[in-house]
Amino acid sequence: MESEPRVIRTKNFTADAADFILQQAHKAIGERNEFRIALSGGNTPRPVYARLAAAGRDLPWELSRITFGDERCVPPDNSQSNFRMAWETLLAPAAVPEKSILRMRGEIDPQIAAQEYEDHLDRIATERGEPIYQHDLILLGLGDDGHTASLFPGTTALEETTRRVVANFVPKLNAWRLTFTFPLINCARHILFLVGATKSPGLIERVLEGDWRLPAARVDPSPGEVTWMIGE
Ligand code: 6PG
Repeated sequence: MESEPRVIRTKNFTADAADFILQQAHKAIGERNEFRIALSGGNTPRPVYARLAAAGRDLPWELSRITFGDERCVPPDNSQSNFRMAWETLLAPAAVPEKSILRMRGEIDPQIAAQEYEDHLDRIATERGEPIYQHDLILLGLGDDGHTASLFPGTTALEETTRRVVANFVPKLNAWRLTFTFPLINCARHILFLVGATKSPGLIERVLEGDWRLPAARVDPSPGEVTWMIGE
């Protein structure tokens, strides 16, 4: 690890997580007039997004650029879609302008969708003269097998060293996923892990100790910081 992650254990998980995101948003907008956040999927973020939509009423959402760290290969109205979850809990309630939202297209061929997403991020970075698209904040979750985004143990995407977004086949789910890779994740300014109270303390411990077999333990942004928000 470049620097030790900050670990926040809290009984007010939802409010604290939403406040944390808002602080990062104001900081980024203050410094660069833009807030680049990547959303995570799964269930843990749901109440956090809803809270953020309410608490972030004053946030200039038109200055946000919202991406997705991973997506299931389903249409956007499918109940499994991470976009749909974010849309219902945050994007629609907060009336985030459409031009601020960059959705992964889970409904098309996964290879094409991943390439298209990567190209889009690369284009933005190139326009700004940046070597790679740098997020101000990437939200991540922790799966019971140690996966994060759709970087599952033993899958090929873990070994990716150049691509920023890939299609990753996950044998245990017998399904494709679209996912950010470590090269993209590990150049973020800040990573926030959102981990609910029901996650195994033993698993969290192993990740924090850096057990390389757990993909979440490989999150280590060289220019940035990592915060773990853990519910109690
Ligand atoms: C997804 C994710 C995934 C998730 C973890 C934790 O699309 O499934 O982005 O990485 O964050 O599986 O999920 P829970 O929050 O539901 O435990």
